[in-house]
Amino acid sequence: MTFPNGFLWGAATSHFQIEGYSAEMQAQLSDWSSWMSMPAKIVDGSTAEFACDFVNRYPDDIDLLEALKLNAFRISINWPAILKDEPGGESTSQELDPEAVAYYRKLLTDLQARGIKTFVTLFHFCLPTWIAARGGWTSPVAAEQFGIFTQKIVEALGDKVDFWLTINEPMAYAYQSYVSGQWTPGHVSDYLSAFKTIKNMLVGHVHAYNAIKASYPQAQVSYTNHWRPFSPEKPLSPLDHMVCMVRDNVFNHLFPASIQSGVYSLPPPLSFFKEIRELEGPIPGLKDSIDYLGINYYTREISRFKPSWPPDLFGEASPKPLLKTNALGWETYPEGLYQILTHDVKPYLKSSSGKTREIYITENGYAECFESQLVEGDWSLEDVERVEYMTQHLEAIHEAIRAGSPVRGYLHWSLLDNFEWAEGLQQRFGLVRVSYPDQKRQPRKSAYVYADIAAENALTKKSTSQ
Ligand code: FCB
Repeated sequence: MTFPNGFLWGAATSHFQIEGYSAEMQAQLSDWSSWMSMPAKIVDGSTAEFACDFVNRYPDDIDLLEALKLNAFRISINWPAILKDEPGGESTSQELDPEAVAYYRKLLTDLQARGIKTFVTLFHFCLPTWIAARGGWTSPVAAEQFGIFTQKIVEALGDKVDFWLTINEPMAYAYQSYVSGQWTPGHVSDYLSAFKTIKNMLVGHVHAYNAIKASYPQAQVSYTNHWRPFSPEKPLSPLDHMVCMVRDNVFNHLFPASIQSGVYSLPPPLSFFKEIRELEGPIPGLKDSIDYLGINYYTREISRFKPSWPPDLFGEASPKPLLKTNALGWETYPEGLYQILTHDVKPYLKSSSGKTREIYITENGYAECFESQLVEGDWSLEDVERVEYMTQHLEAIHEAIRAGSPVRGYLHWSLLDNFEWAEGLQQRFGLVRVSYPDQKRQPRKSAYVYADIAAENALTKKSTSQ
């Protein structure tokens, strides 16, 4: 199964999950650095204080990428840490710290020097503390400041970026931060804040898009949409089907549909609530503000109606998975990726001038659970389940390409084991194992299989039979 010429084979990361940027952590410059230090917020009690020490070890990690024959790498910029500290501790002018800029310039330059294409995310879940204190993304301040920040990044690093991603998974962020409460600031069922967040993110996305395009009109800019098919717990229950439809409309489609139409328009049941409905309306510059589609895909969700008063049409996730799951309880469901690529993204594939947008899979990966203090031994190197997950998803992508889907690259989440937001260090997603106490890296079986696939630009009998 050969992939199109020039297909990108890469890995995705985010700053907070790998960097261990000490200035940020010690001074708690971000909402996440203070959140993870509070008791009982992270499931395994670990923190991202040192994470993979990527900020010091990236030259070796880039060598590893090259050795694995990968030709694309996704990073994110540490917004809180790249700002110069000002007297009073507030970097409100958003002047950049030359040392932090130098680190990112060197990292991106080293990647490009090895022929590795760079994907750069501007917001991957961490806000400067002073913006979080003003309400974070629930406030228009965040959108405005995000535009200013992007402008500075474009000036400092713009010539080193091949693909831009403004915001990572807006809907997952709004849901976890304001509905489930598992992420900072930990609000539960605060739907108004969740949908204010989405609106301000759309506005912030436009500011960022315009800032990039003003200097680099040919730049490739998008954001990542977390796609997750919803299946009814009881296939014969109309109420379970309704819940799935509501969840699909909001979780998967709200953000891309708003960009496609240029209007923030909320489907039922959100539109039943006056305060939420008041958020609706056109957003200047929103239409056509993406050049390609960034797709994050991990799993599907089984959903069901929840008998409650007042009724909640969003229902709830079923605790009963039907298929094999990973350590986070996420089902392996490659058919879902095929369905998304060939069907669900269709309304967003063309710009208003009729140009087809290409697709990059910006995340896809598999978690295993191993205690965070492990050092020696051959634990977790024979990761046959990750190999199986990855090859099954690559088969689904290949099939979708044959059916006409314009997928041009795949970024596996992740290169290294890293800090998982709510769960901590023991959930391991790496092609490469990290022993946290001594920071040793050791490629797993999946890394070697992936290297073969990348080198061949194909899934071969060898890779699928391992
Ligand atoms: C995605 C996030 C990423 C990582 C993976 C497992 O939702 O974008 O940072 O945590 O899940």
